[in-house]
Amino acid sequence: MPTLFCLGLLRLWFHLHFYELSNHSPVIRGLNYYRQSLHLMVQNGFGVWVRGDMQFFWVANTAWGVGSILWAELVRDSFHVLAHRWPLLYRQHVWHHRVFRRDLTVANAKIYAQAQWRNDLPECLVMLLFTLFVWWACSQLMPVCQWAALAGTLYTLIFLVSCIARGSGSNWARQATDATHLPGPFTAPPARWLVNRSYHWRHHFDNDHAYYCSTLTLVDKLMGTALALKGKTVAVTGASGALGRSLLLHLHQAGAKVVALSSKSEPVTLTVNGETLCVKTINWRVGEEAKLAELLENVDILVLNHGINVRGTRTPTAIAQSYEVNTFSTWRLLELFFTTIRTNENMARKEVWVNTSEAEVSPAFSPLYELSKRSLGDLVTLRRLDAPCVVRKLVLGPFKSSLNPIGVMSSDWVARQIVALAKRDFRNIIVTINPLTYLLFPVKEFCVSVYFRFFSHSDLPQSAAKYKVPEPERLHG
Ligand SMILES: NC(=O)c1ccc[n+]([C@@H]2O[C@H](COP(=O)([O-])OP(=O)(O)OC[C@H]3O[C@@H](n4cnc5c(N)ncnc54)[C@H](OP(=O)(O)O)[C@@H]3O)[C@@H](O)[C@H]2O)c1
Repeated sequence: MPTLFCLGLLRLWFHLHFYELSNHSPVIRGLNYYRQSLHLMVQNGFGVWVRGDMQFFWVANTAWGVGSILWAELVRDSFHVLAHRWPLLYRQHVWHHRVFRRDLTVANAKIYAQAQWRNDLPECLVMLLFTLFVWWACSQLMPVCQWAALAGTLYTLIFLVSCIARGSGSNWARQATDATHLPGPFTAPPARWLVNRSYHWRHHFDNDHAYYCSTLTLVDKLMGTALALKGKTVAVTGASGALGRSLLLHLHQAGAKVVALSSKSEPVTLTVNGETLCVKTINWRVGEEAKLAELLENVDILVLNHGINVRGTRTPTAIAQSYEVNTFSTWRLLELFFTTIRTNENMARKEVWVNTSEAEVSPAFSPLYELSKRSLGDLVTLRRLDAPCVVRKLVLGPFKSSLNPIGVMSSDWVARQIVALAKRDFRNIIVTINPLTYLLFPVKEFCVSVYFRFFSHSDLPQSAAKYKVPEPERLHG
């Protein structure tokens, strides 16, 4: 009711505001206003922008135009979700899933055409219906913006025409308009905001109950379907520590096959629903990262979580130890993991999460911890500019563990947030009680990343196949 009341008031305001322009129909009135405002601009230059009504007119038009296109995408992705949940629709949608082989080549031209008529065409018609509704709503509420509100309909018509062309067998239309289904080597890992081939591949061959989006990734982010953990092999370093165990538990509960990487010899156990679960545990030591190469081939997500805090110590040994464990060992494992990414499937499915800590931007009252974690954070920022897979940073505030006995959060709660945010495809997963970190970290990350991009370059191929893994520096003393 309040929404309807506000819309009614808005409409009344618009009516009174623009009525003087013309006494014609709303359609003509809208057109007249475009004509008059353009004419005024041509006559008076941009000074005319100081007129509030004109500014509002263009802002409102832009909002309706962009909004109607976003609406079209929202309708498309929601229809896709529905198609996977409602058997009646799924019987048609499944044609779309039958079309492609794992390398995205078309299995059969006839099935491809059928998929256009049975899936893409109904999808476009639903989009058309809903975008025409937006146009109608705008013509009722803000007639002077109705031409802009048609943008979503025109946008949809492009898809409708291209779908008909593909259904009719046009190879040109397929190449030009079915961009997320084209075969060939992937050139980038799954993108954050716009659906690319590696993003969409996962919907077909990783998990068809996730990655629903077609153009913008917004719906997956909102639904928590931007990363499917079910069936993925996830290895966690520092596994016997507080966060390591909690992460293993929450990843296990999300359906992942977990592997503990621990520097201790005892196997890591978890308590799941009151029962003890023995996790597959692989023993490793800092400096011997290369020994994990074979294991990492079969790991989908590597969580680099091990770390130490030497607190107030500042001896040469403490400096070497802090950098070796917190920075260089993590970096070497990161590079080693990159070398396992050789195929399209690797690029689409594999990820690495690096626990860098909020010490990247805030004091941790432990200079060597801050120094080593900041160095790690900067290295990750530098390397993910051209990483062959998704790289996430875990930027965590103080939680209770042997590393930080006075931490205020619990490792269980932190791990739950990490998994939830990863499923929403957060690339920088911030979990802290310090509000400043939410402001400072994104600004710092953006500035450092832009700086690194401008003043460094990479000659490495996107595929990590030719990467040379750095030799570990042995820690003496
Ligand atoms: N606690 C906090 O307030 C906080 C805040 C932000 C970030 N973090 C980060 O979160 C991560 C987990 O820390 P936590 O708080 O859970 O501490 P934790 O309970 O002490 O766990 C850290 C784990 O790292 C591994 N590790 C320690 N020294 C190692 C070494 N020399 N070589 C190989 N592995 C070693 C150990 O696991 P294994 O024995 O199984 O190898 C250890 O249990 C760390 O990277 C830490 O910097 C912690």
